[in-house]
Amino acid sequence: MSTVLISPSILSADFACLGDEIRAIDAAGADMIHIDVMDGHFVPNLTFGPPVIEKLRPHTKKPFDVHLMIAPVDPFIPAFAKAGADILTVHPEAGPHLHRTLQAIRAAGMRPGVALNPGTPAALVEPVIDNVDLILVMSVNPGFGGQAFIESQLRKVEILRRMIDQTGRDIILEIDGGLNSETAPRAISAGVTAIVAGSAVFNGGGSAYGANIRALRPGVHV
Ligand code: DX5
Ligand code: ZN
Repeated sequence: MSTVLISPSILSADFACLGDEIRAIDAAGADMIHIDVMDGHFVPNLTFGPPVIEKLRPHTKKPFDVHLMIAPVDPFIPAFAKAGADILTVHPEAGPHLHRTLQAIRAAGMRPGVALNPGTPAALVEPVIDNVDLILVMSVNPGFGGQAFIESQLRKVEILRRMIDQTGRDIILEIDGGLNSETAPRAISAGVTAIVAGSAVFNGGGSAYGANIRALRPGVHV
């Protein structure tokens, strides 16, 4: 299970020096950079958009794992591609044509992902599973870092693990919200292959990032 990807969420980084923060988590062993885009409408919080992502792009070669919590999505797809997003993940509730949106993301040269809120069933992915490279299980209601892990989402992870295995495709199964050294191993046992963590990575400042990331990987003692 050493192949689990760690994708630190910069929502918990110091926004006044995001470039430094990204270089620090890259050096500390992050596999991807999780970037939470919020519009104050789809979720009750605001963050940043393509211009900030474009400025961050030169600071690391690691994939940008961009989680869109915005509605609508479609008009912004070209801007996220131009800004340097590698994976672009959308919530089905953000628009009426999920399949079309996923196709548009692929056509723009990015890898499409679909994110499921805690109240959204796994079955919703089934009709579009051939169109996604990543499935994101939200283990908190999206909008804020530092919330408590919702246990029932582990059952959804198990269902999605079986669904993905049946495709024979290498779809990333990622979990986001309330992940720490206690919840991450349980999510990995349930079948995830990628862990998003904000507060658990950025807690303690730059000198702690390496140990914080290692603490999320199974079988690694820090
Ligand atoms: C919440 C975001 C998460 C958030 C996770 O809407 O999607 O990525 O940053 O934060 P923690 O790891 O602190 O729960
Ligand atoms: Zn996220």
